[in-house]
Amino acid sequence: DKGNHRHFMAKEIYEQPEVIPHTFGHYIDPTKETVVLPELPLDLGSVTHISITACGTALYAGAVAEYWFERFARVPVSIDIASEFRYRETPLQPGGITIVISQSGETADTLASLRYAKELGQKVVAVVNVPTSTIAREADVVLPTLAGVEIGVASTKAFTCQLATLACLAVATGRAKGVLTSDDEHRLVRAMMEVPRLMTEALKLSPEIELLSRTLAKAQDVLYLGRGTNYPLALEGALKLKEISYIHAEGYAAGELKHGPIALIDEKMPVVVIAPYDRVFEKTVSNMEEVAARGGRIILVTDQKGADLANVTAMQKLILPEMPATIAPLIYSIPVQLIAYHTAVLMGTDVDQPRNLAKSVTVE
Ligand code: M6R
Repeated sequence: DKGNHRHFMAKEIYEQPEVIPHTFGHYIDPTKETVVLPELPLDLGSVTHISITACGTALYAGAVAEYWFERFARVPVSIDIASEFRYRETPLQPGGITIVISQSGETADTLASLRYAKELGQKVVAVVNVPTSTIAREADVVLPTLAGVEIGVASTKAFTCQLATLACLAVATGRAKGVLTSDDEHRLVRAMMEVPRLMTEALKLSPEIELLSRTLAKAQDVLYLGRGTNYPLALEGALKLKEISYIHAEGYAAGELKHGPIALIDEKMPVVVIAPYDRVFEKTVSNMEEVAARGGRIILVTDQKGADLANVTAMQKLILPEMPATIAPLIYSIPVQLIAYHTAVLMGTDVDQPRNLAKSVTVE
């Protein structure tokens, strides 16, 4: 049932302010402002290394979490595409854990990676949405994402629920390692509790994004740029746009612009820049200036402070409320999803069932 939405994807985008509190509700004690994980058969305090592996959107959730694990818990992380991880014969040291992330819990390469990690004696934590799936059954620890059934082939609410779950795991690891103080933890949990309200605010950008998608629908290629946790979001934005609108898109770390993709920039090339005002904002502004100087058209997704500071020509701005940097990836996902959605609707594609794609990739 799509409710009053035209597509399951739209319904699932709009459901996020409701499903995110379910997910956080499972891992957070709101009165104590602490993260509470289920009983784990491992000691997070003695984890020496984390390997993350997944495919597609789930991989990008892992790529955001890499920043969190390193910042909150000071644990080194390596992240790999599951189809590479499983064949690379990655050495996995005792004391490490492997985190697999999957909406369906049936993705062939992710499952094979889980089995590989287990064979090498790693404890495997699965962040999965389908609790009866093979990945959920075979993992040592299951952290459910509780997004509810996701029907649209393009993953939306499962992604933000993966982020919510991984944020909680990162905070719990930081606490267990003695890196985060209880004050840090309270502050982070309070920020998490703001997510549903901020998502509702972000959804209000929909009409503006619908207008803006007219520019994107005419483009042959679109570039997405971001730094820090917004870099994986740039990758996710490009994936989402390709999947459902069939427009070629690339996500890049903003700092890589000069190392190649800048050669593509001309007045026909829209560049979506995901840049809340944070500690790397100024750096991203100089990348935007480089794009503008070559006639590229910029769509800047930012907050008021960022919008005021970025005085670049040929720019459209999507302005989100100000928020703590930690939760920004969850909120900035919304405009990223809506950009792809509205562009695809305008192109007249089959948004929920894009050509050549399957919801669950059970063959390699
Ligand atoms: O079910 P999974 O999360 O394991 O699926 C992984 C990818 O196939 C999936 O995220 C794919 O990239 C989506 N269609 C993205 O929207």
